Amino acid sequence: MRCLVTGGAGYIGSHVAQALIDSGHKVTVLDNLSTGHIEAIPKGASFERLDLIERDRLNNFLTRGKWDVALHFAALSLVGESVTHPYYYLKQNLITSINLIEACVANNIKKIIFSSTAALFDNTHPSPSPIKSDSPINPASPYGESKFFVEKTLKWAEKIHNLRYASLRYFNAAGADPLGRLGEDHQPETHLLPIAIDAALGRRPPLRLFGTDYPTPDGSCIRDYIHVSDLADAHLRAISQINNRSVTYNLGNGRGFSNLEIIKSVERVSGRKVPWIPAERRLGDPPILIADSTEIKKETGWTPRFSDIDEIVRTAFTWREKHPDGYRSP
Ligand SMILES: NC(=O)c1ccc[n+]([C@@H]2O[C@H](COP(=O)([O-])OP(=O)(O)OC[C@H]3O[C@@H](n4cnc5c(N)ncnc54)[C@H](O)[C@@H]3O)[C@@H](O)[C@H]2O)c1
Repeated sequence: MRCLVTGGAGYIGSHVAQALIDSGHKVTVLDNLSTGHIEAIPKGASFERLDLIERDRLNNFLTRGKWDVALHFAALSLVGESVTHPYYYLKQNLITSINLIEACVANNIKKIIFSSTAALFDNTHPSPSPIKSDSPINPASPYGESKFFVEKTLKWAEKIHNLRYASLRYFNAAGADPLGRLGEDHQPETHLLPIAIDAALGRRPPLRLFGTDYPTPDGSCIRDYIHVSDLADAHLRAISQINNRSVTYNLGNGRGFSNLEIIKSVERVSGRKVPWIPAERRLGDPPILIADSTEIKKETGWTPRFSDIDEIVRTAFTWREKHPDGYRSP
């Protein structure tokens, strides 16, 4: 397949681009490098530095080639920042995605795989756990709302233009390429696992643990961590799954780990202490978020290979130890 990967210089996009290349597909990365890294673009991919907000440039570029599928990772994705800059987030994520959908329709790209999120589910009530793909939706942030709006736009593109899509609602992506080629390097980093690893390596102040009085066995939040290579495998399967109909899947491990369990896992894997201090709960952080991924498993045969948390942590730790400054490391 000829695959267009928006956001392919970012964390998840680069791992999926790598998996596509490893499976013999052709990859073109479109990225503005706002949060991504040129070094993360896998060898063998072609690259166009392009901002999806520039509709005409995007259209011009797409007229110059042929692609079978677009995988759309490019987005602004910091939940907290979306609350402080709601209009910027809504505008940016909606317009860039609509530009891409419109350009795909105009240029005969018939499939889109979209990076959606667990952040669109209703977490204001004690939600059923695990969360199914038809669980109530009520985004708690402009970020989650923007993703939900893109899902709805894709539905219209299917209805009116016969575009096929897969909306994949990721839970917490974690880990790094098991062969050590790629890793996670966000600036600023907001994800617990890389922060815990950097704290263990003495490269940042003690980790602030948001909330230690949740109604969970150890008082810290419980989240579902899915290895980035398992995410990549799910994308490849989703592409063939949507030949005849579009799909919306939840994507998680189906197992929850508390924040304190993640800290302990980093300590086991690294052989070092993770310094941490208790901090106030963050607004809108529900106690437990675990995915029910039954549908993608049943319909595509997907199953996570990395279900052991220490294995996930090990891939992340190995990459970070070799790249203490991320992609800027020598
Ligand atoms: N990381 C997670 O746990 C997680 C969970 C749920 C959903 N998601 C979604 O998955 C996708 C990828 O997440 P990530 O963690 O890899 O993020 P990331 O920031 O590492 O990657 C995003 C990439 O998109 C590029 N980009 C951003 N805006 C662009 C634009 N206007 N034009 C062109 N390129 C642009 C960035 O430069 C970057 O390379 C995002 O859509 C995110 O919302 C991530």
